[in-house]
Amino acid sequence: MTDRAMIIFENVSKDYPIYSQVRRGIKSFLFNINSAIKEIKNLKFQALIDASFIVEKGESLGIIGRNGEGKSTILSLIAGVIKPTKGKIKINGKVFSLLELGSGFHPELTGRENIILNGLLLGFTRSEILDKIEKIIEFSELGDFIEQPIRTYSSGMIARLGFSVVTAAKPDILLIDEVLAVGDFAFQKKCIKKMLQFKEDGVTIVFVSHDMDAVRKICDKVLWLENHQVKMIGKVEEVIEKYETSFIK
Ligand SMILES: Nc1ncnc2c1ncn2[C@@H]1O[C@H](COP(=O)(O)OP(=O)(O)O)[C@@H](O)[C@H]1O
Ligand SMILES: [Mg+2]
Repeated sequence: MTDRAMIIFENVSKDYPIYSQVRRGIKSFLFNINSAIKEIKNLKFQALIDASFIVEKGESLGIIGRNGEGKSTILSLIAGVIKPTKGKIKINGKVFSLLELGSGFHPELTGRENIILNGLLLGFTRSEILDKIEKIIEFSELGDFIEQPIRTYSSGMIARLGFSVVTAAKPDILLIDEVLAVGDFAFQKKCIKKMLQFKEDGVTIVFVSHDMDAVRKICDKVLWLENHQVKMIGKVEEVIEKYETSFIK
């Protein structure tokens, strides 16, 4: 462990319960309630198994792997949204996360109102947000749509709004989960540029993506999850190559 370590995972596992009895039918569940409860308590799904890694200050870690391998679970653990079942997690600094698309946005509020709401939730004062809001809107390139309720937005437009709020933040640790994928090419490029700027400013980044070119541009090292375990962690090009050839076999 070094004093520059921003994120430390030590043998971290995360289980989720499985409700198989309930799925088998509510009637059978009710008639066998005691054994059903016992079974529920014992059944678990291992979303992440025994993961250990360190991310140092200013480093960018990419997390790759197929759907359902536990990538978002790692980000939620770093963000403190969920707790590990086993193992230790240590986080140094303020975390800002752009996790699921549109989480934290209210569909009936306009883009502008959502920026203000999100800013307040992030701990900005009202006047700080009002200072930043024109810049945020400019980054989003949403034009007049910024005055429309976001239920009228496409997923790409919601991603634009989400990332634009990020640009106003000053985090120590930035978590980005796949959100860039729904944006158009020009916006993706702009977001990558902004992330590189964060990196220059010493921000530690954890970036989950299926876009290997974006991972190459942003990350210093890559963690590959397979069977809910750390299959490999190391140099960007080496890990990506192994990951990509694993599909050919
Ligand atoms: N709240 C939850 N309850 C039960 N299972 C979950 C929950 N969240 C995630 N999972 C399961 O954990 C596994 C890992 O999920 P996730 O971390 O979202 O994968 P990824 O981001 O790599 O696609 C998946 O199989 C998913 O179904
Ligand atoms: Mg995910």
